[in-house]
Order: sequence, then structure tokens, then C-alpha cells
Amino acid sequence: MVETMNVNAPAYVKHDGLKRWVAEIAAKTKPSRIVWCDGSEQEYAQLCAEMVAAGTLIPLNAQKRPNSFLARSAPDDVARVEDRTFICTPNQSDAGPTNNWMAPDDMRQTLEGLFDGCMQGRTLYVVPFSMGPLGSPIAQIGIELSDSPYVAVNMRMMTRMGRAVYDVLGADGEYVPCVHSVGAPLAGGQADVAWPCNSTKYIVHFPQTREIWSYGSGYGGNALLGKKCFALRIASTMGRAAADQADSPGWLAEHMLILGVQAPWGKKYHVAAAFPSACGKTNFAMLIPPAGLSQQGWKITTIGDDIAWIKPDAKGRLRAINPEAGYFGVAPGTNEQSNFNCMASLKENVIFTNVALTDDGDVWWEGMTKTPPAHCIDWRGNDWTPEAAKKDSIKAAHPNARFTVSATQNPVLDEAWDDPAGVEIDAFIFGGRRSTTVPLVTEARSWEEGVYMAATMGSETTAAAMGKQGVVRRDPFAMLPFCGYNMANYFSHWLQLGEQIEAIGAALPKIFCVNWFRTDDQGRFVWPGFSENARVLKWMLARIENNAGGVEHVFGVTPRYEDLDWAGLNFSEDLFKAITSIEADAWKQEFKLHDELFQTLSEGLPSNLLKIRGELEARLG
Ligand code: OXD
Ligand code: MN
Repeated sequence: MVETMNVNAPAYVKHDGLKRWVAEIAAKTKPSRIVWCDGSEQEYAQLCAEMVAAGTLIPLNAQKRPNSFLARSAPDDVARVEDRTFICTPNQSDAGPTNNWMAPDDMRQTLEGLFDGCMQGRTLYVVPFSMGPLGSPIAQIGIELSDSPYVAVNMRMMTRMGRAVYDVLGADGEYVPCVHSVGAPLAGGQADVAWPCNSTKYIVHFPQTREIWSYGSGYGGNALLGKKCFALRIASTMGRAAADQADSPGWLAEHMLILGVQAPWGKKYHVAAAFPSACGKTNFAMLIPPAGLSQQGWKITTIGDDIAWIKPDAKGRLRAINPEAGYFGVAPGTNEQSNFNCMASLKENVIFTNVALTDDGDVWWEGMTKTPPAHCIDWRGNDWTPEAAKKDSIKAAHPNARFTVSATQNPVLDEAWDDPAGVEIDAFIFGGRRSTTVPLVTEARSWEEGVYMAATMGSETTAAAMGKQGVVRRDPFAMLPFCGYNMANYFSHWLQLGEQIEAIGAALPKIFCVNWFRTDDQGRFVWPGFSENARVLKWMLARIENNAGGVEHVFGVTPRYEDLDWAGLNFSEDLFKAITSIEADAWKQEFKLHDELFQTLSEGLPSNLLKIRGELEARLG
């Protein structure tokens, strides 16, 4: 860690443009010092110690949870703020109707005022990071300037952060500039509170200049700018722009986990799966197949749990990397049964945010154990007991409480997770949270129909974003809050990429849609989910090998009861029917919602999607 009272960069930073930019931001934001982060362990320990002294981090019991900390956010800074997230393109139509838009000049003026002197009394951290393995042809570099030490230490776990990034950057390499401030300090020059933030929040993207500016929030999805802002919103525009170059299909930045599946027949597969936030991506990525399947030799390994960058290689095969290096996962609901490997990853070296603190200095959250602790301190710092909680329905942990942990702590980390070349994708899965209507699994008949199903996907909202929960909204490709450009053009990009790959004779991955979340009339989930999802995965891979049956219906192919492997699970044919049935009336309603989406996205909507819409409705009769 190199400290300076002025902008002087350490000697290993050779990039004059970068130094000038840091000087410019420092002049604007007026921090009291600048720290150039080197990503070392010593620096991490020092920053954590400073945050403990400031009350931002609470050290956990070193015997129970070594080298781990708890952070409590401000009560109104607990999730992504979609209504404060902006895509600033010269033309509004480039951002599209599903993004908040402001003209770049207007936004720059707003930011000018907000960032003027906003870091006074604080340290500006220069955080160099690579999204993707350092030097990979698919990776990209970013530099985040932030006045939050919490951001600096989280970025160290979530990205390849540190000095080595400057070696790749050299004297004139390209990087995505990311500026983050928790917002102007309290009036009257008071010392910062433990979790500074501001009631004014702006999460801003300038896709043309590939800049990110984030103001007023310390929450991960708003503040760790390598994640949603860069790896999805900016990267999706980069992948689309690359398609404008001659002979290039471009690439994809997707809200997808990537997993490896070892099949007993000796072949290893790679699957990328998109689900909206807080719908079990981390669980699926770390899944242990049930005993009946593990005994046959099925094994799942993790490449990534949230984001995939996917590029065709020279032969047209789609290869994917995980641009991240850690997991920023939802804690509530995670336990030894729902995600054994995740619990194993969380044994040490973790930063928890907004979970409860137990009396013995460990953490707890709803769903972690069957019996809650008799007493703990809740995520707001108040006494909590199960009895009092029942009365006032107060949660011990915030429903969007998170853990941050390095991928290397995952016991089932795939050996290729850090491979600069990425892994070949054999199948895409798209899933939403739907209590009705959508069947357990459907195989699309073609790339086009798969794109249609992904584009029209609906899902019930969760606590990962501020706003009402449990409301069904269209969430195309699970990318609604993350696509950095017009969604209609995004659909075209997917369709064209498929066409180009087919044109050179390369095999496209199969596309499947799943829904783990159908409920009965008591509102209980019918499908046991979690490890049992491996049964559905097995069916998909067997379909790829033309080795599993299924029945064709309106939307594609679905397994019959006898097509799934039920070894070790007692799940009746009636229950199976309940989660695979397709009700014509419900689907007629659903088509109306597809129409609403297409109406919203009518400008630039690929006509193929409307054609498929017509064909599917005709099949429904
Ligand atoms: C996340 C999200 O944090 O999708 O991954 O909100
Ligand atoms: Mn996510």
C-alpha cells in the first residue's frame, strides 16, 4: 500500500493517462489522501483493521469464523437501486425503454455538482482490477476510484485486484474508469458514521466513453463497480459493439452462472444458466447431486456463480469465462442442506453484510439452522429473539444480507475456473421464479425459439433490488436491470450471433428454460429443488447426446415422468404433472404479457420474435 498526500503514483504505475485521470478526480472530489491499492494481504489486513477501529467492521470470533468480519449497512442502503440507475447515451433509443436515461451532458452537470468535494476528509483508494483472468483475450481491465475502504477490500475478493493489473495495463493500455463515492460527508464536517452513504443516489453509465460513476451508496451491487456496472452493463455494450466490426459476431456479457458437469459416461460438460437475482444461482453453481446420481458418477463443479462473458472461438464454439474472482451471495436460506459447498466456503476469510451477530461472536441468518439462536443482535444492531421476532415479524438478517468470499475457498471450484481460454458451453439454461404457468423444464426446438423463451421470461421480484417483492415482471434473459443498451437490440444481437455461428457450421449450445418455483394451493413449493435440480440437468445433457426421451408440446420438449432419473427420490407422477402441466388459459394470459413487452420494445424488435409469437399461439390453438 503506497500512501501519498498528492497524486504521486508508485513507480510501478507506468500509465501517464491513468495518473492524469486520478489527479483530475482528486482535484474534483478533494480527498485528504490517496492510497494506491496493491492488493497485498498486508494491505487487506490493514484496511480491515482501520475499518474495525472506525466501527465499519465487527471482527467475528476468531475460533469460530477466522479472519472474518460483519458490516452493517445503513438501513436504507441494502440493495440495488434500479430507479437510480442510469444509462446515458446521446440518443435515448440506444438505452431503450427498459433503462432510465438521461442525456450525457445533463448527467455530467449533475455529477459535477455531486462529486465536487464529496470525498473531503476521506481517503481516495485507487483500485486496479481485471475482470477475467489477467491477460485473457476475453478479460478487461478497470480502475475504480472509491472513498470506501469497504469497497477496496470487497473488490480484492470479487476481482483479480492488485499490482499485477498495472503490468498488463502497461503505459497505454485501455481500462474502464469507475468513480465511486458514498456521497458527501455529513454537514458540519462531522466524522463519518460507520456506514456512510447519501439519500441522493446515482448509479451512472456512459456506454460511449465506457465510464461508470456511482454516488451515494455503499451496497455491493451499486458500489463494487466491476460487478453489475462493468461486467454486465458496460460489457454488454462492448460485446454488442464488437459485432459491428467486419466478420465479428461480437460477444455476450450475461447474468449467468457457469458450471462444469462430469457425466458418468466420461464426458465433461459446461452449462451457463441465467436466473434473476436471488433465485438460487449460487446454489445451482455449487450443487451436489443427490446420492442416487452421485453414486452413478455425476459431479458438479463451479466456474462462476453470477456473470459470464461468452465469446465464439476461432471454430465458432462459444467459450465462457467468469469475469469475477469471488462470490457476493445472498446469505438467508443458505444452509448445509441447500448449499453445503457454500457453507464450507464461508468457514473463514469472509465479509458478511447485514447478517445477525450471535452472542458468541459468530453469524446467523434466517434459514441457516432449523433452530434460531435464543438471542442475537439483528442486522440493524438491535437485540433480537425468536419470540419478539414472531410478534413484530422482524428479521434477524436482512433478506438481502450478503457474504463476500474468494472463489478459491469453494471446495468444488472447477479446475478451469481461471483458464484464460474459458470453457466451451454445451447448454444455456434460463429460469425465472414463477409460482404458476411455466413448466419445470422445456427444451427449445431451435436457437430462435430459445431466444424467444428467454426474451419473454417473467419472474417474481426479490429483495436484491429495492421495491415491492413477489410481483411478476418480464425479466428478459434475467438481464432487465443489467442490459446496458436497448433490449430490442440485445435480442437481435443474440439472434444474429446464433445465425453467424450456424453459418460457419459450428454447433450452437442447446437452450432450455426451467422453473423450480411452482407452488401448490397452500403456496408451498412442489419441486424439492436444490440438489434435486441435478436430475433435470442430467436429462438436459442426455438430450444433447440424443439419449433421453421427451414429449413435444407448444413450446418445445419436456420430459415425461419416466424420462427423469428418480433414483433415491420419492416424487409422485401426480406431483410431476402439477409442475409440468401447461394450461392453455394461463398461457393465453401469458402471451398478452409477451405482447406488452414487445409493445414496449417495438422500436427495433426483431421481426423473428413476432413470427415465433404467432407460431406458438397457433400451436396453442
Ligand atoms: C447480485 C444481484 O448481487 O443480481 O448478484 O443482485
Ligand atoms: Mn446477480
